[in-house]
Amino acid sequence: MSSRFAIAGPLRNAAFGATAVLKQGNGARAVAEAMEAEPATLPAALADAGGLLLLRGLHEINDDPALLVRLSRIFGPEVEDYRHTLTNLSAVHTQVPEILLVSNLPPVGKAPPPRPEPPVAADGGLPVQFPHRTGWHTDQSYRRPPPDISLFYAATPVTSDQGQTLFANGTLAYEALPPALKAKVEKLEGLHAQPGSGRSRKAVLAGDAPRAFKAHERSQRQPVVRVHPVTGKPALYICENGQMDWIEGPFVGMEKGPHGDGAKLLDELMAHMTQRRFVYAHEWRQGDMLVWDNRCLVHAATWYAADEPRMMWRTTVHGNPGALYAGEAKSWIPAAAE
Ligand SMILES: [Fe+2]
Repeated sequence: MSSRFAIAGPLRNAAFGATAVLKQGNGARAVAEAMEAEPATLPAALADAGGLLLLRGLHEINDDPALLVRLSRIFGPEVEDYRHTLTNLSAVHTQVPEILLVSNLPPVGKAPPPRPEPPVAADGGLPVQFPHRTGWHTDQSYRRPPPDISLFYAATPVTSDQGQTLFANGTLAYEALPPALKAKVEKLEGLHAQPGSGRSRKAVLAGDAPRAFKAHERSQRQPVVRVHPVTGKPALYICENGQMDWIEGPFVGMEKGPHGDGAKLLDELMAHMTQRRFVYAHEWRQGDMLVWDNRCLVHAATWYAADEPRMMWRTTVHGNPGALYAGEAKSWIPAAAE
């Protein structure tokens, strides 16, 4: 059967990613109907494209935000309801609790990321490589089981050339690792910490006291090489400053802290993974939606002028983390006895 969607990849100036366009009709409602009529198409396209899919012109979502949840349901069995996952309610959409607000506007008031110094890379492009570019992470890696997929919709993006979202491909980066480094990381585990826990590299270097953790807030171990449950491909699965545990980690069984052997290895891996050849930079237009696979990509937000209003909506899809996590209870939900 021929599909209602035309899939074309890779994305501009990148080695991965694809766009999905309806052959007939347009708009978020038409896309939702087509997706529901052939639910396997876009998840398969996402896997084939290396974990990144772009759909444009979905402006109807601004007036009917539940459409974003409808689109999300195609990508997995569970769309997170942020009312039940210990999320600050000021960042949760008041009508649709599956939508997380990523915004500099009140009441969320999330500040833009810092501008890289210098603001342009040596090759004249947008800085992407760590440590010139920081903030690289995969969503909620401080939870076990971690999520599968995020959907990110541009309700009000900022002016072009600012506020981009960068993606680095952990599958391509793993494939390109020198054999000695591959062997070194094969069985290694990273220790991932919740942002704001006082365990970031910056906080530890500043000598801040870490917040005391309840059991459900503890840092979580994750494989450094994660095997994708759909494609079977191994991918690097690491974060940097804000989402690793720089007190007990960043790696289990290696020298701890920001000056240890673990830190040196993480810096090396992160610089490798974020080379421009593994990266895609998305320039947002209103009505764009990106679907990304957290199991094989890391991403980072870029600087924008703080006086520009920015409102992005995110949903998170869970339910297929891979055999490694089979049967695990959600680490972030407090147990009754806690
Ligand atoms: Fe994120």
